[in-house]
Amino acid sequence: MRPIYLLKKYSKQIPNGPVLEIGFGNGESSKYLASKGYRVTAIDIKKEKVKKLNEEIKGKMLKIRTLREDARKLTFKKNFYAAIIAFNILQFMKRSEALMLIKKIKKSLLADGVAFIICFNTDDESYFKFKTNNNPEIGKNTFFLKSTKLYWTFFDKGELKKLFLSPKNDFRVIFYKDIRKKELTPQIHHHGLSLLIAKKGPAKTNRRNPGFK
Ligand SMILES: C[S@@+](CC[C@H](N)C(=O)[O-])C[C@H]1O[C@@H](n2cnc3c(N)ncnc32)[C@H](O)[C@@H]1O
Repeated sequence: MRPIYLLKKYSKQIPNGPVLEIGFGNGESSKYLASKGYRVTAIDIKKEKVKKLNEEIKGKMLKIRTLREDARKLTFKKNFYAAIIAFNILQFMKRSEALMLIKKIKKSLLADGVAFIICFNTDDESYFKFKTNNNPEIGKNTFFLKSTKLYWTFFDKGELKKLFLSPKNDFRVIFYKDIRKKELTPQIHHHGLSLLIAKKGPAKTNRRNPGFK
């Protein structure tokens, strides 16, 4: 499933308010949400991505503010965004940084705001490759690749969901799936992906004692 299909299917869940996309890449998600009337802040660490999206939206009636930013260094406004999209970015940082980013995403959403996240899990082919190629595992499921100077982090299956259900039970997970996805280019390979959509909201009412905590 392409990230954009997931977003299109669940975008009705997003309340009114500003949207943040982290690591926008080709900007498909930002453009889609802007076309639906949302005011989008789109950040990416790469200058060329920012330049390309700016060129594409020039002269169009899309409310997208592009910024070249490193998500790991970003300060997030509290209770501010109606949705935060982080598709295929958490895997490109240390585990501690990815966990910190998730914490910030949770805090930064408005009540009823929606987190859309896709990340690599331990079913990913590259996880097995890194494990067997003697790449140093510098932390749990985290590798540093000297060739690209990049960190790679893989979540356990089910882990992303748990991170949104604890410690405060202040999110409702409305979609979660661990999948194995076949890619045909540049050669056949498989990704292990965790897909999550979670809505910030009051913890569920205690059925036995409705109205009481
Ligand atoms: C695999 S692409 C995903 C693009 C898009 N989100 C999608 O799913 O189609 C990852 C994107 O995240 C950006 N990126 C990687 N690390 C980042 C960071 N620390 N802060 C902001 N953007 C980052 C990359 O430049 C790239 O555009």
